[in-house]
Amino acid sequence: MTLTLTTAGESHGPALVAIVTGLPAGLVLDRAAIDRDLGRRQEGYGRSPRQKIETDRVEVLAGLRHGRTLGTPLALVVENSDHANWEWGMNPWPPEGEAEGKGTKPVTLPRPGHADLAGSLKYGLSDARDALERASARQTAVAVAAGAVAKALLAEIGIEVEGRVTGEGLEARVDEARAERDTVGGVVEVRVRGVPPGLGSYASKEDRLDARLAAALMGIQAVKGVEIGEGFELAARRGSEAHDEIFRDERGLYRETNHAGGIEGGISNGEEIVIRAAMKPLPTLMRPLASVDLETGEPAEALVERSDVAAVEALAVVAEAAVAFELARAAREKFGGDALGDFVSAHRAYVERIDWSPR
Ligand SMILES: Cc1cc2nc3c(=O)[nH]c(=O)nc-3n(C[C@H](O)[C@H](O)[C@H](O)COP(=O)(O)O)c2cc1C
Repeated sequence: MTLTLTTAGESHGPALVAIVTGLPAGLVLDRAAIDRDLGRRQEGYGRSPRQKIETDRVEVLAGLRHGRTLGTPLALVVENSDHANWEWGMNPWPPEGEAEGKGTKPVTLPRPGHADLAGSLKYGLSDARDALERASARQTAVAVAAGAVAKALLAEIGIEVEGRVTGEGLEARVDEARAERDTVGGVVEVRVRGVPPGLGSYASKEDRLDARLAAALMGIQAVKGVEIGEGFELAARRGSEAHDEIFRDERGLYRETNHAGGIEGGISNGEEIVIRAAMKPLPTLMRPLASVDLETGEPAEALVERSDVAAVEALAVVAEAAVAFELARAAREKFGGDALGDFVSAHRAYVERIDWSPR
C-alpha cells in the first residue's frame, strides 16, 4: 500500500488539479483546514499582488463523500481566478476572436534562473510561456491541498508537521531588495513530532527516508539545498560531538541530543525529524538581468513579469506539505490498511511491540 500524488495545471490556466491515490477509507477531511493551508501559502512578506487576485479554495471532485474518504482516488481542484485575464492567452483550445488580455505576445527573453531558456530548448518552443507556466510555483497550491490531506492522515497516528522560516530580519531584507528592484531567498525548516522509529529503510536508496524527504524538498521550485539535522555542520565535527548517544530510563530508550535530525540509516529513529531547505533568490527581477532575445539573437534584458520579491514564508508552507506527504507515504507503506481503523490499529500494535511512545 502506498500513497501517490499526481498534479497538473499551469500558472494561468483554468485550474490546478491533483489526484491522490492510496488513502484509506474513513479519513475525515476538514475543508476549512485545507483552505487554511492554502491561505497560509498565499501570505508572507514580499508576495506579489497576484495573491490578492487569488483566494485559493479546494474543490473535491471524487473520492470523498460527506467529508469522509472512500478509499478511492481523491481528486482535488484549485481554480486560478486570474485565468479570467488570460482567457485568450492560456486557452487550452485554439482561441477564437481577437487576441486580448494577457499572454498574447510570445515570451522570447529568457530569465536567468528560471526555466525559460532550458525549457524552450528542450521542448523546441518559440514562446517560453509554454515552459514557464508549468515551471512556475503556482502549482504548489494544489500540492499544499494534498499535503493538508496527508497531515490529516498523519494526525490519526499522532504525527504533527510544522514548517517555518529560520533566521530573522526577513522584512528588512525584502524592503531593501524591493527598493533596489531585486529579489531574495531564504531558509525554511520543517519539524515533525511523533514519528515512531521505523519509517523508511536502508534496504535500497529509494527506500531511505532521508533521501525521500530530500527529494520531496528538492522537488519544490527554487529549493537548491537540503540538510537533515545538523547536516553540513556535522562535516566539521568529530564523531564524539556529532552522534546522539543512546540512554534508557523507565520510559524506554532515549537520546539527549538530536544532531541526526531524527533519521539514522535511512530510518526514522523516534526523535523529532528536522529538515531544512535553502531557497535561492527568485529569478524574476524588476531590474532585469542580461539575456538574449531568442527571436533575434540580440542581447536584451530578461522578461519582467509581475512577481514576488520573496516567497520564503510560502515555501515554509509548501515544504511542510511536501514533508507531510512523503511521511504519509512512508506511513502507508509501513502500516497499510484499507480502512482508517486498520491503519491506526497497525500503528498501535507496532509501537506497543517496540515499546515506544513520543516524549
Ligand atoms: C512559493 C513559491 C513562489 C515563487 N514565486 C516566484 C515568483 O513570483 N517569481 C519568480 O521569478 N520565481 C518564483 N518562484 C521560483 C520559481 O518558480 C523557480 O525559481 C523557477 O520555477 C525555476 O526553477 P528552479 O529555481 O527550481 O530552477 C517561486 C517559488 C516558490 C516555491
